[in-house]
Amino acid sequence: MAYEKIETRAAWKGSEIDYRTEMMHRFTDDEVAEIDGALKACGALDIPEITQETFALPTMAAKMAALRDELLDGRGVVLMRGFPRHRYSADEMARVYIGLGAHLGQPIAQSWQGQLLGSVIDISDVVEKVRGYNAGGGQHFHIDGSACDIVSLMCLRAAKSGGASRIVSVAGLYNYFVDERPDLLDVLTRGYYHRNHELDARYSLFPPQSEERIPVFAESDGRISCVIDTGCLRYAVHYGGVTLTPEEIAAYDELQRVAKTEEYYLDMNFEEGDIQFLNNRAIMHGRTDYEDHDDIARRRHMLRLWLHVPEWPRRPDNQIFMNLADCQHWAKRRTPFMDMPTQYLSTLAAQQEERRQAQTVMARQAPSQRYRSAADWQPEPAQAG
Ligand SMILES: [Fe+2]
Repeated sequence: MAYEKIETRAAWKGSEIDYRTEMMHRFTDDEVAEIDGALKACGALDIPEITQETFALPTMAAKMAALRDELLDGRGVVLMRGFPRHRYSADEMARVYIGLGAHLGQPIAQSWQGQLLGSVIDISDVVEKVRGYNAGGGQHFHIDGSACDIVSLMCLRAAKSGGASRIVSVAGLYNYFVDERPDLLDVLTRGYYHRNHELDARYSLFPPQSEERIPVFAESDGRISCVIDTGCLRYAVHYGGVTLTPEEIAAYDELQRVAKTEEYYLDMNFEEGDIQFLNNRAIMHGRTDYEDHDDIARRRHMLRLWLHVPEWPRRPDNQIFMNLADCQHWAKRRTPFMDMPTQYLSTLAAQQEERRQAQTVMARQAPSQRYRSAADWQPEPAQAG
């Protein structure tokens, strides 16, 4: 099949971009004052009640709309820097974050537990069987759930060292495959079977596994949209009876290999208070390895939002696996303690202390070090009996 390269601003190489000049918005004093006013006006509202109306930004709203356009048809990345983290509590920062996010889209639940505001923090030594965002170490490149249009992080606390956000342009990668490996592009546009995380699936309205392969790349209106969730691909092999062909293994590995070259990726260091917004169709993300503190209360801690943007064109239908109905269903299970960082951290710190006393602290997990190639995703052995 013949493919055409994407020649828009969405196609970039990390080695050619300085994010500080091309992707960053620095808050002005007036904007900080306006946000501070909105924070005071919204008081103690619960997360679903923080909206464009309750967190009104009379002047800055137009700027947020322009940034949303930049996410759709520009570089696909916006870093907002310079909000004075030291003046606000963690929960106030969370409210500021949701308020700004509400001007870009609607927060949606991020798992079966229904959290609208997720915590990305390593708690793998304290909580059994955590997901990737609650484990440590680096991350392979991926796209978050397909219901999410904009994926975002706010840095509450930076790592002891490392832990940069590593991002790559999907269109840039696509162009590499057009030029160098159109044979593997055939495989990637056909895609892979996906299988949901076990608990997400249990509380889903739909079967756990996709009936068809889901294209990694799909084109629509001159924009490339990407879906690749390494965990979901791996679960389909582990638990769903899927056997990858040698070409499918080669295509996945080549995608990760190229994305991990210095030419293509871009590392964005997080300062405390930074807010990063990514187009979750056009930008793959991962992170670099990092060194963390032992005390949970001092660990690298990012808040995460998944935003649905009704104003944007829909993702191509054949790329939708996790959908909005699932997220709305999960939202019914919401446990507010997970949302606000102070309560969440104090709960986890108490669990850590209990485990220390009982000497049951577990080894910390870094899952990306376990699976270096799709060839490592073997079916789990059938259970005896
Ligand atoms: Fe992610």
